[in-house]
Amino acid sequence: MIRAIKGTRDILPDEVGAWHRVEKAARELLARYGYREIRTPVFEQTQLFARGIGADTDIVAKEMYTFEDRDEERSSLTLRPEATAGIVRAVIEHHLFQTDPALKVYALGPMFRRERPQKGRYRQFHQVDVEAFGMEGPSIDVEIIQVALGYLRVCGLTESQLILNSVGDAKCRPAYVETLRRALRPVASRMCADCQRRAETNPLRVLDCKVPEDQPIIEGLPRISDHLCPECRDHFAEVKRELDLLEIPYRLDHRLVRGLDYYTRTTFEVTSGALGAQNSVLGGGRYDGLVRDLGGPELSGTGFALGLERLVMLLPAAAGEGRCDAFLAVLATGALDRALLAERDLREAGVRVMMDHDGRGLKSQMKKADKLGARFVAIMGEDELASDVWTVRDMTASTQERVSDVKLAEYLEGKVRG
Ligand code: HAM
Repeated sequence: MIRAIKGTRDILPDEVGAWHRVEKAARELLARYGYREIRTPVFEQTQLFARGIGADTDIVAKEMYTFEDRDEERSSLTLRPEATAGIVRAVIEHHLFQTDPALKVYALGPMFRRERPQKGRYRQFHQVDVEAFGMEGPSIDVEIIQVALGYLRVCGLTESQLILNSVGDAKCRPAYVETLRRALRPVASRMCADCQRRAETNPLRVLDCKVPEDQPIIEGLPRISDHLCPECRDHFAEVKRELDLLEIPYRLDHRLVRGLDYYTRTTFEVTSGALGAQNSVLGGGRYDGLVRDLGGPELSGTGFALGLERLVMLLPAAAGEGRCDAFLAVLATGALDRALLAERDLREAGVRVMMDHDGRGLKSQMKKADKLGARFVAIMGEDELASDVWTVRDMTASTQERVSDVKLAEYLEGKVRG
C-alpha cells in the first residue's frame, strides 16, 4: 500500500470543519485591521530563502526541500519553508510599496520543512502569515501582536503566553554578536556540538539551545538587553508601554532570538503549555533590513506566522455539523424522477439535500438520514406517489406532515431558513 509521506498528514472530511472555521476567522479578523490577502507560489528560487532567512539557520542549512529544475539553466528551486521571503519578493517585484498607502497583507497556505516529525511538527504544515510594510513606529509592532492574540481569542484559545524581546538592529547587534562570540570562546568546548559550531558561525543561535547541560553556561552569557543602542532601546520601551496601555500581558525573554536571521528589534512568540515540546503556536517580529537585502528599497517590515495544525490541535472539538438539511427517502419505484426534480429545486432554493441512490428500504434510509444529521426526511412511497405528495418528518420535533410535491421546495426552504 502506498502511504502518505512521513511528516505529512491528510486533513480528513471529519476534521476539515475546524480548518474552515479558523480560516474564516482569520479572514474576518484581518479584514477588520485592513489586511488583504496575497497568494504567492509554493516554490521559489532557492537563493531567495538562502539570502532572506540566512544561510546559517537550521531552516536553510538542513530543512529545505530543494531540487534542480529540468530547464536549461538547471535553476535551483525550493518549496517555501515560510511565507515572509516570498511575500517580500512579490512586494518588490510588483512595486506594491509605491501604490498601496498601507501595505498590510496576509497569506494562508502550506509550508515545507524537513524537520524530524513529532507531535505538532510536520514536514508539510500550514501557516496564517501576516505582514505590514513601510511602518517604522513601535505601534505597528503592537498592532501585529494584537492581531495575533485577537486571532487566538476569536478561535477560542484562552490559555497562552506572549514572550517578548528586542534583538537590536544593524547598528548595535554586530557589536553584541562579537561580544557574545568572545564570551563563548573560553566555554564553547564544554557545550554541545551544535553550540560549538554556532559559537563561531552564528553565536546568537547558541541562545536557542535547549540542551540541559548547556543552560548554566548560556545563562551567564552577555544579554542583548544590555547592549541595545539608544534608538533600539527607545523603540522597545515604547512597544512595552503600548502593550501595558492596552493591558496585554507579556513575559520578557532576552534569549528569544527566533530561528530566522532577518529579525531586527522586536521579536515575539506565543506559547501554549498544552502543546508539549513544540509549544510555540506563533512567532514573529520586525525585519527592517530584509526588503533592502532582497533587492528592494529601504522599507521596514513587521509580522508573524501562526501554525494552523498547532492551533487546531489546541481547540476544543466542536460538535460536527449535519451534512444535510433534508433527506429524500424514495421508496416507490416510479418516484425517482420526482426526487431528482425535487433535489434540483431544493438546492436552487439553498437547502442542503441528499438522497438514497440504492433503492433501500425505509428503515435503512431513515438510519442514513439520521447519520447525515438531516433535520427533515421527505418520504415518497406508493401512496404518496399516487397523491403527488411527500410525507415530511421533522426529526427533532418527531412530527410529520403531508406536503404537495410542487410545494416541497418552498416548504422546506421556509423551515430551514426559519
Ligand atoms: P516560525 O517561528 O519559523 O516563523 O514559524 C511560525 C509558526 O509556524 C510556529 O510558531 C509554528 O506554529 C509553525 N511551525 C513552524 N514549523 C512547523 C512545523 N514543522 N510543523 C508545524 N508547525 C510549524 C516564521 O515562519 C516567520 N516567517 C514568521 C514571521 C512572519 N515573522 C515575520 N513575519
